[in-house]
Amino acid sequence: MTPPFSQRLLDKHALITGGGSGIGRAIAERFAAEGAHVFIVELSDAAAADAAAAIRVAGGKCDVLAADVSDTEAMGAAFAKLPKLNVLVNNAGIAHIGNVLTTTASDMDRLHAVNVRGVYHGMHFGVARLLEAGGGAILNICSVAAKLGIADRFAYSMTKGAVLSMTLSVARDFVDKKIRCNCVCPARVHTPFVDGYLAKTYPGREAEMFAKLSAWQPIGRMGEPSEIAALAAFLCSDEAGFITGASYDIDGGVTLLR
Ligand SMILES: NC(=O)c1ccc[n+]([C@@H]2O[C@H](COP(=O)([O-])OP(=O)(O)OC[C@H]3O[C@@H](n4cnc5c(N)ncnc54)[C@H](O)[C@@H]3O)[C@@H](O)[C@H]2O)c1
Repeated sequence: MTPPFSQRLLDKHALITGGGSGIGRAIAERFAAEGAHVFIVELSDAAAADAAAAIRVAGGKCDVLAADVSDTEAMGAAFAKLPKLNVLVNNAGIAHIGNVLTTTASDMDRLHAVNVRGVYHGMHFGVARLLEAGGGAILNICSVAAKLGIADRFAYSMTKGAVLSMTLSVARDFVDKKIRCNCVCPARVHTPFVDGYLAKTYPGREAEMFAKLSAWQPIGRMGEPSEIAALAAFLCSDEAGFITGASYDIDGGVTLLR
């Protein structure tokens, strides 16, 4: 356990979708370090087991609930297994490269299933459990793609626009039920997804393309998963008790220059 963190999430039960890798894993680790009992909902058993083991070795509490976020039955069952729920992070998401001409109807359905339907499932089942606990916090992992016209991200941008709208809708509907709902909009963050994308799309040119993707952020680098996790910990803690229906850009200045 990393000692300097305060215990802002002490005894909170926090469910994080896609907590086995990248941003989700960093959030799971940070929440556990802040005292939460973390529940990782994952498609990849191996990634979830690895993240959970690392959290436990560090002294944290973590359980794995295997589920595909796009599967209604599996998500209902996962939420039913929770002893209680205080904090929900809808993080699981997939990417797609293409403009409206090169994006197929099945690409649209696949992106929608995980990035939109998955977030709907999280909030549909999660809000019910948060109400049982007398309220709580929801954080949706959105993207700057929800707000900017990013080249060749047609389907992905569609899904992140929906995440932003769903965030506002839930924040409005449950503002008087002590449920806060916010989202964060990162620019490029250095996760295994980015390395995999570069290796697949630009074999042999990974370093050059990594530098190009880094330079896209005016600050001159990609974000780190731990930086998203730090904001997530604040937004899901009682310190952010007056914040709901907000979307936070965490993007190294990308939206600054729009
Ligand atoms: N990395 C970036 O540059 C970046 C920027 C902005 C927003 N985001 C968003 O952050 C989130 C996490 O991205 P990341 O880069 O950490 O990705 P990642 O690929 O490193 O991790 C995603 C995790 O989600 C899991 N997952 C995928 N589909 C799932 C499903 N159907 N059900 C359950 N789990 C599933 C994967 O197994 C994986 O462990 C996504 O929503 C992504 O859109 C990422």
